[in-house]
Amino acid sequence: MKKIIICNWKLNGNKKFIKKYIKILKKNNKLYNNYIICISPPIIYMDYTSKLIKNTNILLTSQNVDIHLKGSFTGEISAKMLKNINTKYIIIGHSERRLYHKENNNILLKKIIITKKLNITPIICIGENINDYNLKNSKKICKKQLKYFIKKKGIKILKNIIIAYEPIWSIGTGKNASIKHINKINKYIKKYINNKYKNINKKFKIIYGGSVNKNNAKEILKQKNIDGLLIGKSSLNIKEFLKIIKNINT
Ligand code: PGA
Repeated sequence: MKKIIICNWKLNGNKKFIKKYIKILKKNNKLYNNYIICISPPIIYMDYTSKLIKNTNILLTSQNVDIHLKGSFTGEISAKMLKNINTKYIIIGHSERRLYHKENNNILLKKIIITKKLNITPIICIGENINDYNLKNSKKICKKQLKYFIKKKGIKILKNIIIAYEPIWSIGTGKNASIKHINKINKYIKKYINNKYKNINKKFKIIYGGSVNKNNAKEILKQKNIDGLLIGKSSLNIKEFLKIIKNINT
């Protein structure tokens, strides 16, 4: 199974930046043959990016989706529209959306359902805050976040999805979680889901996000229980991102 690397650009970039970035990425395509590389630009540049990556092995990811497919929902974007421009993955439940946009589990579940309905893969973000980390509640919090979806829709809701374990305290802080901690949580989540759904193992991935950079990416990615990386800040600089790719290949 190829490991996946997602570049989450958040609210950054413009056409000039994207054009240059994709050009350099395409030129270096031999470096990432063994990985699935995804770009997640701001919604307004999704279509532009989609055209630039056509006929390449770079895949398009959305940072968000609405809970409706169409209608009077000013400012929103639907899974159908995203599908229309060849979106392969949608990030759901990023801590920034949970915090700044008050997206609760009920809203997130609707987003997961609508994403799966359109045959797009949801990337469901989970993770504890610093208080819970200090209180050693990480496992409990991650389980609780997943349990809500399982309780409402059954374990099948997690089939063919990606779970991104992103401890909130490590996002954008320069402090990645230790390998030991990530392994512990990822292993626990895998076991938790596998116990409920035999054979699901090959049907979902669990990745890590939170201050991944050129110095720690290789070590994190080579762990058995880590199927990929979700990279924010370090994916914004193409030179830095290429260093990450080069490092994980060595
Ligand atoms: P970061 O962001 O790599 O800047 O910590 C990760 C994320 O928010 O997905």
